[in-house]
Amino acid sequence: MSATNEMSGEVYYPSAEIIANAHIPDYDAVHQAATDDLAGFWDKIARENFEWAEPWHTTLDESDPPFYKWFVGAKTNIVHNALDRHVKTATRNKAALIFEGEPGDSKVYTYQQLNYEVCKFASVLRAQGVRKGDRVTIYMGRIPELMIAMLACAKVGAMHSVVYGGFSTEALLGRIEDSASKVLITCDGAWLRGKVIELKEIANAAVERSETIQSVICVKRIGHDVEMVPDRDYWYHDLMALPIADPNAPTEVMDAEDPLFILYTSGTTGRPKAILHTHGGYMVGTATTLKWVFDIKPEDIWWCAADPGWITGHSYIVYSPLVLGATSFMYEGAPTHPYPDRWWSLIAKYGITILYTAPTAIRGLMRFGETWPQRHDLSSLRLLGSVGEPINPEAWKWYHRVIGNESCPIMDTWWQTETGNFMITPLPSVPLKPGSATRGFPGVQVDVVDEEGNPVGVNEEGFLVIKRPWPAMLRTLFGDPERYVAQYWSRYAEQGWYLPGDSAKKDEDGYIWVIGRIDDVIKVSGYRLGTAEIESALVSHPAVAEAAVIGVPDELRGNVIKAYCILRDGFEPSEQLERELRDHVGVEMGPIAKPSAVAIVDSLPKTRSGKIMRRVLRAQTLGQDVGDLSTLAD
Ligand code: WT7
Repeated sequence: MSATNEMSGEVYYPSAEIIANAHIPDYDAVHQAATDDLAGFWDKIARENFEWAEPWHTTLDESDPPFYKWFVGAKTNIVHNALDRHVKTATRNKAALIFEGEPGDSKVYTYQQLNYEVCKFASVLRAQGVRKGDRVTIYMGRIPELMIAMLACAKVGAMHSVVYGGFSTEALLGRIEDSASKVLITCDGAWLRGKVIELKEIANAAVERSETIQSVICVKRIGHDVEMVPDRDYWYHDLMALPIADPNAPTEVMDAEDPLFILYTSGTTGRPKAILHTHGGYMVGTATTLKWVFDIKPEDIWWCAADPGWITGHSYIVYSPLVLGATSFMYEGAPTHPYPDRWWSLIAKYGITILYTAPTAIRGLMRFGETWPQRHDLSSLRLLGSVGEPINPEAWKWYHRVIGNESCPIMDTWWQTETGNFMITPLPSVPLKPGSATRGFPGVQVDVVDEEGNPVGVNEEGFLVIKRPWPAMLRTLFGDPERYVAQYWSRYAEQGWYLPGDSAKKDEDGYIWVIGRIDDVIKVSGYRLGTAEIESALVSHPAVAEAAVIGVPDELRGNVIKAYCILRDGFEPSEQLERELRDHVGVEMGPIAKPSAVAIVDSLPKTRSGKIMRRVLRAQTLGQDVGDLSTLAD
């Protein structure tokens, strides 16, 4: 790769070798073709790369916007394409999953072995009464059984709802109840930095208060004593040893539009939203984007270092690599345990060829200096990736130079839980500008517009919009279709555009530069947190009458949370209380939601209708101009 200033700003051009080997050497031609005939483009891809029990009669049904449907009438199951079809070919002996535990244990599952486990666990779930359309909550660490559990749910046609293992009781309970899950799959703990996160304890506290959970299945990861409730809790290994655990369990045949999973994510206001994805479109979209953006070849070892508990892990650790018959690598623990070179040692040990991670992780590892990565042979790497928040050019350049040896293009992928797959992203053949996710994936029409929907000028800030539907798009919010319409499709209802909730700029080359959220979502270390959930955790403390939280820029984590609290009568401000409130959020929501600072105040800026004006709080905190205060109450 070489850097020049031919276009404005710094541009990195891919080498001739990278272009020659890329699945898509000519972005412009493919993007143009996809734009001219969007349905035809996806129709061809879907026919040629996946197995369907029955074909579709309509590729894209736009008769009831924004409830778009893809591959209507088709029948399949993503698990049929991820496992069943591969065990009938030589792929069955290929590594599907290579796992390394934090303590250093390691395990490889071939496609044959993974399918064996998934079949058995699918029949265990069936024996627990799990049927097509049911919801199952999964709350586990980053271990192979998490992948097995997800695939087993999909195989029987049940929707999984994975709750990230970094969340605590309140967050877990809320998601269990909202989804009305009848089974919870968890584990006896998870390793993190040599310590145990007591997931079963947290799960017990949530299930005690749940009205819907009938049984709990617990994987033994740590091996220490945990409380198991008789007639409710079962050990995974006990159930898997029963004769009902059938290694030839059939895969439920699903409609392409049947739900595959729900995944909760933070939204503008109120409780988290259950994003719903489907078997057909999600399969086609995730597999195609992974193949083209990360140029997956049969010999690759692909490492998406996210957590399966987030969409990144769903789409790019679990589903799309398996659908492609690729090898996915998973590491359980912290990047810096026991030393800051753990990740680099894993790349050398397993010969990882593609690493996909978040800017916050790169910044975190950058702090330890170049000596740690330099101690390891990273020459197996040929592509790098970034996701979760805008990547600052310094981190981009460090990643490119120190990890990628100046020869690995960096795919900065912009997307969301809602979009299911990469949306704004380069392909390996596309010239890169550090900090820009470049342009839309073929067929994705992105633009930056003003309030009325007019395109803004070059390098002017505006709202990001997506103008055409795509196969892996969310179909609705589970149980709340009105909110789906209001949240994403109401601002530009007339034009029929999707509103992601980000602000952005477009430069003279049409490259998109995402700036950040325009709503009350805060990105902390790439994790998406809603102000409303953190505020309700604070208010659940007896000392707090009212609370408001804002995001404050932070060099390492992108943003950190600052909380403002008004105390109830009878409570006095103190440092001790501030600490207690921070810890309280940690216990209720999870450590990632812990405010880095709590300020106790007498009042909060509000509109006359009583809505907290976080914009004003934020401006005051950062010493910026507070802007238009005409709606402020006093
Ligand atoms: C929000 C979605 C999709 C995987 C992880 C996040 C921000 C995501 C980028 C990027 C700038 C990015 C946006 C988006 N975001 N990727 N490459 N550059 N911003 O999924 O938790 O649903 O968050 O993450 O603000 O709206 P998510």
